[in-house]
Amino acid sequence: MVGLIVARSKNNVIGKNGQIPWRIKGEQKQFKELTTGNVVVMGRKSYEEIGHPLPNRLNIIVSRTEKYEGENLLSAPSVQEAIALAQDKEALSRAGFTPKGEPDIYISGGYGLYKEAVAFVDKMYITEVDTVVEDGDVFFPEFDAEAFEKKTGASGGDEIKFTRTIYTRRVQEKKTGDKTITYRKLTQSDLDTFINMRITQLTEEYTTEGREVPKNVDLAAALKAYYEKHMAEATFVSWLALDGEKIIGTSGMSFVEKPPYFTCPTGRLGLLSSMFTDPDYRRMGIAQDLLNRVVNEARDYGCGAVWITASDMGVKLYTAYGFEHNGNFMQYRI
Ligand SMILES: NC(=O)c1ccc[n+]([C@@H]2O[C@H](COP(=O)([O-])OP(=O)(O)OC[C@H]3O[C@@H](n4cnc5c(N)ncnc54)[C@H](OP(=O)(O)O)[C@@H]3O)[C@@H](O)[C@H]2O)c1
Repeated sequence: MVGLIVARSKNNVIGKNGQIPWRIKGEQKQFKELTTGNVVVMGRKSYEEIGHPLPNRLNIIVSRTEKYEGENLLSAPSVQEAIALAQDKEALSRAGFTPKGEPDIYISGGYGLYKEAVAFVDKMYITEVDTVVEDGDVFFPEFDAEAFEKKTGASGGDEIKFTRTIYTRRVQEKKTGDKTITYRKLTQSDLDTFINMRITQLTEEYTTEGREVPKNVDLAAALKAYYEKHMAEATFVSWLALDGEKIIGTSGMSFVEKPPYFTCPTGRLGLLSSMFTDPDYRRMGIAQDLLNRVVNEARDYGCGAVWITASDMGVKLYTAYGFEHNGNFMQYRI
């Protein structure tokens, strides 16, 4: 997943005199949470402002004039080359960076990087800062808001308040081998196909375990009622993978709430289901791309963990992603 993180003022300012023009307690927390363990891509001037690579994540500096290489540090002459570098296992190990699975990539400014990235990023985490900055000299670029689904998140701040917003690109594309796979969310009009695929998958799981599928259960109707209710309440979300018009991969995340506990003060949990890839499209990273998208949905919903009862086949995928094992019950801590 390629994302973008920015904080901007009401008049769209992101920088002034080489600095971020506000200091707000807690504003940078999201940046740290999202980028830790992942890849952060920043322009040369932003890097010089910080003065060192940010710890516990890979820093890729975009510059046409300077080269950087060191512990958790690489550089590239363009944003696209920075993204390619972040996906190059050899380069990652050269920088001593060993992520769990495929790391997310976060473009973190300034203007030139954002300008290039708004055309293709999958997600934008935009913090709207409730202030007007006079004489700002770096701005966030224009982007096609229609291409994104917008969610408003938590608010915070001190004298200056801020509100988190998340923009998710409605139709995402990824080159996989010689194909371009499209990723998008499940809609009402996909439901019949989705339910058929789900029943085929459940039937396969049942019969390979030597059990007989119970008769007299109208699972199609029950599933339809479930999906319609929970999609309307936004407590079920599914990302699909498509080759052209054909759905070749599915995923599903249901959101539930438990009484809060220490490691999950929201009490919110994501329950993973419906992970399926068409056998002709396996070993192409599609299941991981789907998993990543629904885990991100759970994070954006405020879940503290994702749970799954994994089939034997799924265990390898989930372990590589960072899920922890307990019999066939697995948990991924967010
Ligand atoms: N509010 C926020 O969320 C936020 C986030 C980040 C930064 N900022 C602020 O923004 C300001 C810095 O941003 P900035 O736009 O002036 O500088 P910047 O993007 O950090 O750095 C600019 C340099 O990056 C390289 N670069 C930029 N775009 C490139 C591209 N498309 N291809 C290749 N190289 C590229 C060039 O380096 P070379 O000259 O070496 O070729 C360029 O001179 C500061 O005030 C900072 O505090 C704010």
